Amino acid sequence: MRVSILDLQSMKDRGEKIAMVTAYDYTSARIVDDAGMPIILVGDSLGMVMLGYDTTVPVTMDEMIHHTKAVVRGAQKAHVVADLPFMSYQADHAEAMRNAGRLLKEGGAQSVKLEGGVTLADTVHRMVRAGIPVMGHIGLTPQSVNQLGGFKVQGRTSKAAVRLLEDARALEEAGAYAIVLETIPLQLSQMITERVKIPTIGIGSGMHCDGQVQVFQDLLGLTTGYLPRHAAKYADLGAVISDAVKRYVGDVKGGTFPTEKHSFLLKPEVVAALTAEAVEHK
Ligand code: KIV
Repeated sequence: MRVSILDLQSMKDRGEKIAMVTAYDYTSARIVDDAGMPIILVGDSLGMVMLGYDTTVPVTMDEMIHHTKAVVRGAQKAHVVADLPFMSYQADHAEAMRNAGRLLKEGGAQSVKLEGGVTLADTVHRMVRAGIPVMGHIGLTPQSVNQLGGFKVQGRTSKAAVRLLEDARALEEAGAYAIVLETIPLQLSQMITERVKIPTIGIGSGMHCDGQVQVFQDLLGLTTGYLPRHAAKYADLGAVISDAVKRYVGDVKGGTFPTEKHSFLLKPEVVAALTAEAVEHK
């Protein structure tokens, strides 16, 4: 059975921490699913990680659906939550509902995630009433990078911190099943986690959240360039891959790959027939 939003709530209720990781394709989804990940995020970070955009702003619904389908094919047990990309839910309710529905109907995700708190509560409420489970996302909301003026820590002043507490409460009241807290001070994420009943999933927000989310490529050392301070590097696969690719290039150049082991042989009688045919045509 696939992990449901009720299972995730039970994990918070019994004090069991929730691990979440991004995946954007079939292969990585299979690996993390087999490793026992309860929840996989098809994040719109795929725009930066997989497609090379500078921010998540250009990501489209069609790109999200394409990657969500691949992840769902790879994940048999994990709950798959997919991001609604920038401007797919902000303009009006009807469009928001249609796009959230597409991620479930076409993408095959079990829930959607959107960025925002109080101002999006009505949208969240409508989706939940329509049977679409919603994960909220507050704090550093990358789709608003142009408004925020960069990827900065949020909620540092008392006014900003109170606003985030209100955002978290509004999402809970609207029926969200969980909230991502991105890059906020750890005392604030602790307060939010204690004051809402639904699970909080932190990234760069300290150890008191009910769960943690990391980007697959950051976790495995595949990220090239800037690595955020909150990224946890559990392996250096970038170096392993680079070494393997260099050795492959060397073997092809040096003629040591492929060998007979990697090849397919004709039966001796076929070789004999072809040899005879060549003699006839001389
Ligand atoms: O898109 C993403 O990867 C995210 C996480 C950083 C939470 O939203």
